[in-house]
Amino acid sequence: MYDEPRPARPASPTQRTAAVIPAAGRGVRLGPGAPKALRSLGGTPMLIHAVRAMARSRAVSLVVVVAPSDGAAEVRNLLDEHALPDRTDILVVPGGDTRQESVRAGLDALPADVTAVLIHDAARPLVPVDTVDAVVEAIRDGAPAVVPAMPLSDTVKEVEPGPPGAPEPVVATPERARLRAVQTPQGFDRATLVKAHDTIAVNGEGATDDAGMVEKLGVPVVLVPGHEEAFKVTRPLDLVLAEAVLARRRATDAY
Ligand code: CTP
Ligand code: MG
Repeated sequence: MYDEPRPARPASPTQRTAAVIPAAGRGVRLGPGAPKALRSLGGTPMLIHAVRAMARSRAVSLVVVVAPSDGAAEVRNLLDEHALPDRTDILVVPGGDTRQESVRAGLDALPADVTAVLIHDAARPLVPVDTVDAVVEAIRDGAPAVVPAMPLSDTVKEVEPGPPGAPEPVVATPERARLRAVQTPQGFDRATLVKAHDTIAVNGEGATDDAGMVEKLGVPVVLVPGHEEAFKVTRPLDLVLAEAVLARRRATDAY
């Protein structure tokens, strides 16, 4: 008999984990072309890489893709054209004008039995499954909000922002050893993240990441180690790096 590999800690029957993939951005910083999530990486749309990265985790049984508002049908077709694991359910919903609204649209589409949710940028197509599983594991251990993060290479300055190109006065230099750059998937107890959206978003405060909204509720957020291959494809040079990572994986067959 063939034994299927199992996650280290099986979910209890009452726990179900879903991943929401916000993919509705235009990709302005990447330059002119199709919406970023639909651009090709090694011959396959970035979004498909991101969906596969979530589906590779045996903990994830549902993936909700938040498509560009005018591109839901195209995204549905792309998902049908590419091989994805049978055990993973896929839903497609239209996104909003901001990332936060897109995440909200994904949360609203979750079935009632989903208790934990991962929010993962389509723009981080190469996140390794071990990073996904580390986030899921921490949620299952009881953390309400879990974020993969990396130490910084560059020193960071706080400035008084000026007009583009003008010299900007430095206000402070935070101690680099205490700073982390955060990645996705960020994992949450579903009820906690929904509460954050209900209260923080309504107050119009917002946040630049999902965990930031939960922090504003006063709920503790923990970091787990991220991975250098979970970088976000934002600018053209990031595409060069992503292609190189894919080529290395193919050459070493280590993935
Ligand atoms: N996103 C989204 N809905 C929006 C804006 C962004 O679902 N209205 C998603 C993007 O598709 C991406 C993730 O949020 O997967 C992270 O956003 P970012 O890297 O900023 O992507 P874009 O907004 O597409 O890029 P840019 O800011 O350069 O336009
Ligand atoms: Mg953006």
